[in-house]
Amino acid sequence: MIPPLFYLDRYRNEGTRTYSRHADYTEADVRYRPNTGVDHFPVPAFLVPTEELNLYLADPHPSLLDRFSEGAETLFFVHPQLLERPGDDPYLARVLSLPRAPREIWASPSSSTRTLYVRDSDQPHALKLHFPFRVSRYGRRMRDEVVEQAIDVSRELEAGVGAMDPDFAFLREVLGVTFRNLRPETPRGENWGFLVRELTPFPASGESRSLVPGFALYGRDFHDPAEEPLLYALLSDKNPKSFLLDEIMLPIIRHWVTCFLEFGLLLEPHGQNVLLETGPGGSIQRIVHRDLNLGVDNRRRRDAGLPTGGTNTYNRMESGAFSSVTYDKFMGGHFFDYLAACAGARFRNLDLADLRGACKEEFLDLFPDHERYLPRSVQYFSERRDRFGKPTFMDTGKAPDWRP
Ligand SMILES: Nc1ncnc2c1ncn2[C@@H]1O[C@H](COP(=O)(O)OP(=O)(O)O)[C@@H](O)[C@H]1O
Ligand SMILES: [Mg+2]
Repeated sequence: MIPPLFYLDRYRNEGTRTYSRHADYTEADVRYRPNTGVDHFPVPAFLVPTEELNLYLADPHPSLLDRFSEGAETLFFVHPQLLERPGDDPYLARVLSLPRAPREIWASPSSSTRTLYVRDSDQPHALKLHFPFRVSRYGRRMRDEVVEQAIDVSRELEAGVGAMDPDFAFLREVLGVTFRNLRPETPRGENWGFLVRELTPFPASGESRSLVPGFALYGRDFHDPAEEPLLYALLSDKNPKSFLLDEIMLPIIRHWVTCFLEFGLLLEPHGQNVLLETGPGGSIQRIVHRDLNLGVDNRRRRDAGLPTGGTNTYNRMESGAFSSVTYDKFMGGHFFDYLAACAGARFRNLDLADLRGACKEEFLDLFPDHERYLPRSVQYFSERRDRFGKPTFMDTGKAPDWRP
């Protein structure tokens, strides 16, 4: 039996955050972390006049939209830790001057900490909240331009999903709510809000399927560290090499390349952003991508004849550095290497070079023109930051492992 997503997302993630020196760092209070015994907590909600807000929509289910916005007032969610450590923030000050919503909403943390699974809703959804505390490398803000971009990406992927393989699915970000910018004269808007993510993969499969986070294949269980990795159960008596390649790695490479070529969007398929959709007996049906705060390669968008006007300053790319970060590091280093190591620990004759060789071939096949966009060597975050605190990129000088 495969445990449900809500369990796996919180409790099968032990020992996986070793891919960078920041990966297991968190400023989240113990009560709000995914891997604790706290089952759920109330999420503070306030009634904000809609005229003070920006609302971004990507085809939300009508009943979901009704829950949030009632015309003159909109429900505005704040992570409880922000109320305990408010700092100096004009938007939070405004929220706190407004009435609390009468009905309490309870939620449980997901693996990302600041995205919360809402309990007791007929329309399963999550709230991705502003969390200006560091988790891993970044402070986890939800600034307006980032929220708007996620909604734009959701809308674009929904409309263009026919260009993707049938084993591609994603979690739509259907509603974004942010404060209007109170300080338009500043170089970058710091107005923030939150996102609403539907939890039913799109396109709808119409069947009852389970979701397994990528990391849960090799992550240890929080309650029972001796528990076997889920990967071995899903593999059962299948050939490990063809299972890893045909059911996980090659489909994800195809998704990354098609998304790049068709939309100029940079999927970030690391172990936390990828969910495996499983059918009867644990067979993998589709790969579901979550988290649409994606980088956008404007060079590719121009070449593909797509508009570039909607891309914001934060996500917009004019070089291939971030493409390498997402493909070589997030997917290759932070996910495939862990999967391969876990499988290799049990199946001694599984050859890492074979897996990488097949992935390189697939990549070249799909993307013969890759040198036009991607750098020859692997790029990653440096320890330097720009004036807004965003890490800059650096050239590691290393040859890629999972592409030619
Ligand atoms: N195994 C993992 N691999 C990568 N990131 C992980 C893992 N487990 C937890 N995370 C966390 O996921 C977060 C990134 O997701 P985020 O953008 O905050 O939300 P979401 O994925 O819900 O959109 C980071 O804070 C990172 O620390
Ligand atoms: Mg994520």
